[in-house]
Amino acid sequence: MTAQLIDGNALSRQLRADVTARVTALKAHGITPGLAVILVGENAASQVYVRNKVKACEDTGMHSVLERWPATLTEADLLARVEALNLDASIHGILVQLPLPAHIDAQKVIEAISPAKDVDGFHIASAGALMTGMPGFWPCTPYGCMKMLESIGYELKGKHAVVIGRSNIVGKPMALMLLQQNATVTICHSGTPDLKAMTLQADVVVAAVGKLNVLTADMVKPGAVVIDVGMNRNDEGKLCGDVDFDGVKQVAGYITPVPGGVGPMTITMLMVNTLESAERLLG
Ligand code: GUN
Repeated sequence: MTAQLIDGNALSRQLRADVTARVTALKAHGITPGLAVILVGENAASQVYVRNKVKACEDTGMHSVLERWPATLTEADLLARVEALNLDASIHGILVQLPLPAHIDAQKVIEAISPAKDVDGFHIASAGALMTGMPGFWPCTPYGCMKMLESIGYELKGKHAVVIGRSNIVGKPMALMLLQQNATVTICHSGTPDLKAMTLQADVVVAAVGKLNVLTADMVKPGAVVIDVGMNRNDEGKLCGDVDFDGVKQVAGYITPVPGGVGPMTITMLMVNTLESAERLLG
């Protein structure tokens, strides 16, 4: 058996077309959704991500501001920039690209963002809203994974989902979103003694560790849905996920590729969150 591909580029194109139409409608009411992206330092991967986020704004007709600051920027100065953007009426979403230089307390900066503009969904108010099922911004990567499951009409109720990874950005919110759809959820991590025993029980596996070949074919139940959040480089410098794609696709029912899977969906959901932040102004 060969798994069906869940194409993140194709799904993104569909969703971004809807975003573009809603942006046009909002502009007719005199509101242009605006995203501010702050990049501190020269991290190569961050520069690519940030460029893609700004380009997605341009493609969907949104306003964007990219602030680039040297790695020597002080925490106080960064907090002052966030505060200014909190007060800027042309900005509906604020994103501080992570990682930040070591001298800056990232959590403190995230908590300085107004929850109303927290389109990354990293603020504790957003995390609390997700946990309790209240309205709020969902972190873009797990939100994109949920959209991918939705796109194949997958019913999570009664299914067992195994999330590998427990980060605040992906693993933990992913587990909460799956739980909200009535899946039975297991979170595995570096301290899990027998990962394979867990993943073999899974109807859905989300791999979000940041390590090559965390999930191999022998660890997957035939027909399972496999979502690969990883972004790694192999020995030849090729972009790869956490999943051994060539092996796992022989066993899984559905699989997301890297590149062209979760990556574009993350940016698409950032556009959705920014748009929805602006739409809330209309009530
Ligand atoms: N660094 C890697 N992924 C992300 C993300 O989704 N948001 C932010 N702000 N930084 C990141």
